[in-house]
Amino acid sequence: MCGIVGYIGKQQAYPILIKGLQRLEYRGYDSAGIALIHNENLNVYKTKGKVADLVRFAEQQDIEGTIGIAHTRWATHGEPNQVNAHPHYSQSEELALIHNGIIENYAVLKEGLKEQGFTFNSETDTEVLIQLIEYVKKSNHVDLTTAVQLALNQVVGAYAIAIIEKGQPDTIVAARKGSPLVVGIGDGEFFLASDATPIIEFTNQVVYVGDEEIVTLRRGKQLKIKTISNVEKTPEIIKLEMTLSQLEKGGYPHFMIKEIFEQPKTLSDSMRGRVNVEENNITLSGFIDNKEKFLNAKRIIITACGTSWHAGLIGMYAIEEFARIPVEVEYSSEFRYRKPVINKDDIVIAISQSGETADTLAAVELAKSKGAFIFGICNVVGASIPRNTDSGCYTHAGPEIGVASTKAFTAQVTVLTMLALMIGREKGTLSEEQYLKTVQELGKIPEKIKYILNQNDAIAQFAKTFTYAQNFIYLGRGYNFPVALEGALKLKEISYIHAEGYPAAEMKHGPIALISQEMPVVVIATSAGMYEKVVSNIQEIKARKGKIISIVTEGDVVVKNLSDYTISIPDTEECLVPLLAAIPLQLMAYHIAVVKGCDVDQPRNLAKSVTVE
Ligand code: G6P
Repeated sequence: MCGIVGYIGKQQAYPILIKGLQRLEYRGYDSAGIALIHNENLNVYKTKGKVADLVRFAEQQDIEGTIGIAHTRWATHGEPNQVNAHPHYSQSEELALIHNGIIENYAVLKEGLKEQGFTFNSETDTEVLIQLIEYVKKSNHVDLTTAVQLALNQVVGAYAIAIIEKGQPDTIVAARKGSPLVVGIGDGEFFLASDATPIIEFTNQVVYVGDEEIVTLRRGKQLKIKTISNVEKTPEIIKLEMTLSQLEKGGYPHFMIKEIFEQPKTLSDSMRGRVNVEENNITLSGFIDNKEKFLNAKRIIITACGTSWHAGLIGMYAIEEFARIPVEVEYSSEFRYRKPVINKDDIVIAISQSGETADTLAAVELAKSKGAFIFGICNVVGASIPRNTDSGCYTHAGPEIGVASTKAFTAQVTVLTMLALMIGREKGTLSEEQYLKTVQELGKIPEKIKYILNQNDAIAQFAKTFTYAQNFIYLGRGYNFPVALEGALKLKEISYIHAEGYPAAEMKHGPIALISQEMPVVVIATSAGMYEKVVSNIQEIKARKGKIISIVTEGDVVVKNLSDYTISIPDTEECLVPLLAAIPLQLMAYHIAVVKGCDVDQPRNLAKSVTVE
């Protein structure tokens, strides 16, 4: 959470920094700020609110300068207000710093600094860090890079930081531990950002800064990297594959709807070079390279957060069904602290769109320390989780900007399904007939999604009916239970309507008490998997006058006749139904939120990349 961006070069920094912040706003958007050096002045402007609020304020000020840093915040320490917004000045106002992460020992450091006469304006841990850097710099008479290095040796926590200094208009110093940081290398200029999205417009040559590394960006000079233990490193320059059009809305009103509509393409991209329908084959190099490990695994533990955790549940159903390996699905935040039993012959699969989620990263580190084999399923190429796992597969869904995850979810489910099918086939626990049928069906999924997307207008129409609702229940069984959880999460995230996902048969153990004519109940009642039993659950809702919105298989009449609204999806193999059933639920959540006037792409209090605990 929090987005950081920096620029030093020949161009005016302000427009580059603002555009960069807009691209990073998905990471946090409760306040924003910018620091620029112009004519020996180190100017800091910051406001509560979004980047647009910062622009309104800053444009009344001196925004000239060819060096600057900027920040968009997701509050941790201290409420979102102007004082707590970044950048933070040091005591002398000679240094300004932006920070993404948490300094855990800030209280102890703050006390020490107070004893040295430092005073503090904000409630943030970040201000403590810049005061510490200034204290170290002045008391040791060292340059900024050395001061940063010495100060970071006293710091416990996570950080990606960037600092500029009054009177030093040719240098930005930045460092990271735990939180991401990328340097873009242009022609006589450097870009700095939390991810590559603000950089791609200017250069495709980047360096991913490693943990505990400090980078010094000097105007017109080579990039310098050293570790906080003072070891020089050679920068490893990587060519980005991303394109600018992937970061634009492309005519859609929101990123979320663009990303929902991209799914036929993103699933094809996920399967490209992996699913070969002509040859009836799946080739997943992440599996092939580690075949023995998967075939001999006694247990698979899937760890993830949020939507990725829901994808993990679907993965569990598929791996247990096809590969007959016991699977446990863990919330990373619980797993990392509850002293789990992890053995050397366990495989831990970490699923993460961003590849940066702090809890999942910590779960990976824990599992690694116990000797397990760690496999990552991530979307963002080069992120921390794929860099810290033994092996893995990218989902190839392309940049996902909307805070509520959509295309990354279906891509994760696709990768997990391919993996389950490959393990099952190699182990001989999956019949050849089932394997071949499922491979053929996987190939048809993108076209089937297009069929569902064609019902967008109808979904938008009936979604209007439900803006009154305070609560929703989502029900599904088997593979559709995690889909119900995901549907409920989508609605909560973007429309602020309380929603609960439940296994349909569990309804009678509690949620049934909530059902009345006010309560919309979304039931996923597809023909593959326990259809009759779900029909009985629908009857129970009907008897209590609940409003039924059903997701059914094309041609269904029984459930349709019992429902107030019905969305049909094409028939497919049971394990692939989630890839289709999730789509109308994404669309429904989107349209309800739009009609309610909610900020769909940047829902309140949320952030896309959760790099704090
Ligand atoms: C945040 C996002 C969710 C996401 C979750 C896990 O809560 O808003 O959309 O599912 O983090 O993120 P990850 O990047 O690890 O998949």
